[in-house]
Amino acid sequence: MHNNDRANFGSRLGIILATAGSAVGLGNVWRFPYMAGHDGGAAFILLYLACVLFLGIPGMISEFIVGRNSATNAARAYIKLSHSRPWGLIGYMGVFTGMIILGFYAVVAGWCLQYFFASILEHLQGDKDYIMNYFATFSSSPFKPAAWAVAFLFITHYIVSHGIRDGIERASKVMMPTLFVLLIIIVVASCTLPGAAEGVEFLFKPDFTKITPNVFLDALGQAFFSLSLGSACLCTYASYFNRQTNLGKSAVQVALIDTMIAVLAGLMIFPAAFSVGVSPDSGPSLIFITLPNVFQQAFSGMPTLGYVISVMFYALMALAALTSTISMHEIATAFFHEELNLSRRGGSLIVTAICCVIAVLCSLSVGAVSGLSFFGKSLMDSLDFITAQIFLPLGSFLTCLFVGWHIPKRITVYEFTNHGTLKGTFFKVYLFAVRYVCPAAIAAIFLHQFGIL
Ligand code: TRP
Repeated sequence: MHNNDRANFGSRLGIILATAGSAVGLGNVWRFPYMAGHDGGAAFILLYLACVLFLGIPGMISEFIVGRNSATNAARAYIKLSHSRPWGLIGYMGVFTGMIILGFYAVVAGWCLQYFFASILEHLQGDKDYIMNYFATFSSSPFKPAAWAVAFLFITHYIVSHGIRDGIERASKVMMPTLFVLLIIIVVASCTLPGAAEGVEFLFKPDFTKITPNVFLDALGQAFFSLSLGSACLCTYASYFNRQTNLGKSAVQVALIDTMIAVLAGLMIFPAAFSVGVSPDSGPSLIFITLPNVFQQAFSGMPTLGYVISVMFYALMALAALTSTISMHEIATAFFHEELNLSRRGGSLIVTAICCVIAVLCSLSVGAVSGLSFFGKSLMDSLDFITAQIFLPLGSFLTCLFVGWHIPKRITVYEFTNHGTLKGTFFKVYLFAVRYVCPAAIAAIFLHQFGIL
């Protein structure tokens, strides 16, 4: 069943760090804090945790099962397990979705790089208006942001084209610990600011009046995006796992790391924001407009510390983004490499080229070229919407049906228990979740979103 010539991860730690690297990204350090800020702090976080536990982890195990059992790229994986072409559409959809997400994700990642260098060169010093202007001018200029996005894609390309062990695993082993250390340093600095307690309270004291059906939807969408579910990303990584990997345990560990980092990101941002009296619900612009100001004011008595913290902050963002872009790139790289019989380098070059085109168009749509919009939304926002709200939930929904109902149960048991060598205590719970709870919850939320339910 396993193809011995195929690349795989070299160690258990490598597997966890690479997979957690995929999960930990801008979704944690950027999207999670602004969602939590918008949706009532701790109340949102509780719902989020429920979504991770009851829907995210079973979803993740399902992708792992498809990936490890088939040991091939996403598109072929679904065909191989079902012996039918139509199911392969889930995999093709994953490859497609992965490239689109990578396209617009690279734009935001590029902004992080620009801000990293700008903070080193002290270009982010100034009053509120200056910083707002800085972001508006930069993000809507035609050349610079597009060039940073392309640069980011090439860094990703460089790592992915070096393969699973020498590229992805090795990079994850360096980047994930670095990211964690940077995060802890900033959390400590932020939480020791005067007035920080209010931010901590905001994060941990639930305000249940804020919970509406939409908050539930936000929490689910955030959980899926943050765990990299729905685009066969985890399925692709699992195709490089070895037979000893305990799929259930790995899913729980990755979900734990991902959630912990998201909460720490909240602890990095809210105490600092509250300490200078800035509202935490400023939305997506939080990290590019609100925060440069926050750092400046919060550490105004200690400018050197403020400088170091802001440089570290943008380094952290770029690192988090990079471990995720690598995983999105790998979905399509594995596909082109294996399906078109290209070298890994050739396959990854195709992916980089396609994603550069998407990224440049997205970047231009933010401001430089106003015609690049659909239904009043810029191309960037439209692609974000279509992938995160439609393709990802659809991919997860179909994967749950596929694993829960379509493939023979013996395959599921075989993978869950590593061919009977593990006890598989939670198998029944898992199967119940994947057969009933996940599809029903995803469908309900999906339909609600379009006003049908
Ligand atoms: N999970 C990553 C984040 O939180 C983003 C990501 C990586 C992703 N791979 C994915 C999202 C695949 C959806 C599908 O930023």
